[in-house]
Amino acid sequence: MNKLISIDDLTIDQINDIVKIAKIYKDGKLIPTFNLNPVIGIMFFEPSTRTNYSFQTAIHKLGFKFIEYNHDNSSSKKGESLQDTISTFECYCDLIIIRHPDKNIFNDIVFSKPVINAGNGPEEHPTQALLDLFTILDSKDLSDNLKISFVGDIICSRTIHSLIKLLEKYNNHYTDTNYTYNFVGYTELLDKHLEKILNTKIYPDIRSHDLNNLIEFQPDIIYTTRIQKERRHFNQHTNIIIDNDFLDKMPEDTILMHPLPRNNEIHTSCDKNPRSVYYEQMKNGVYIRMAIIYKLLIMD
Ligand code: CP
Repeated sequence: MNKLISIDDLTIDQINDIVKIAKIYKDGKLIPTFNLNPVIGIMFFEPSTRTNYSFQTAIHKLGFKFIEYNHDNSSSKKGESLQDTISTFECYCDLIIIRHPDKNIFNDIVFSKPVINAGNGPEEHPTQALLDLFTILDSKDLSDNLKISFVGDIICSRTIHSLIKLLEKYNNHYTDTNYTYNFVGYTELLDKHLEKILNTKIYPDIRSHDLNNLIEFQPDIIYTTRIQKERRHFNQHTNIIIDNDFLDKMPEDTILMHPLPRNNEIHTSCDKNPRSVYYEQMKNGVYIRMAIIYKLLIMD
């Protein structure tokens, strides 16, 4: 394994390895790093709080070092191409972690060192999907017939795209399972979009804008996202808001997830509801990113 660009890059065995290593780190144990002393390049061309700083924390905890790209203070301002900028970082680093608004970046740029996709436009966010999976595994068994509701900006959310791909890997892996998906969101082009990424059972009313749809569906997992304003070229009115009264209508073992940042789609009244796991997702980001770096630089 020398790159993590898409969930498509991963086998079930590799995912299980990453989850196992993350669990060891979360339990406070250390794994030998064989006196390796890599320098990791963090190159973010889009804003980030969780992904950037949890990677930095993960690198510190592993005892490694990083350098961080600063676009406003780089030679890109003198006209240097993106390829030359990345190739320069590759001269100094053993691994590149990159977030970029262009979904085609991994087709357009040649990487000569191991690379981790920290989000490419609306396309994918594989490390987020892995930490989402790690969080789901705290309370769910992937060999059960899971019911999952995706709520919000389904077309532009790279976290949803990667998580669906990841869940579908397990849905196909366990021959007796049949996950059911339900979508509540902004539905222009949704059917066509889903056809491309999903070939499993979909709860009939996929075009709903109405959260009450979830009361009948009784999901095991609700995964919500904000409107991705930075990727939309029109104003999208949002009236899909989960509050604590609504959340209490869900089964007791339903979990409410969000990759964060949130706008107003999850009311703060939900924060202390035992179903809410979005703060746990944030914490798990550190352990899963430690595991991904370990897997790429040390394990194979
Ligand atoms: N979930 C996520 O990618 O958050 P950031 O944009 O803050 O990194």
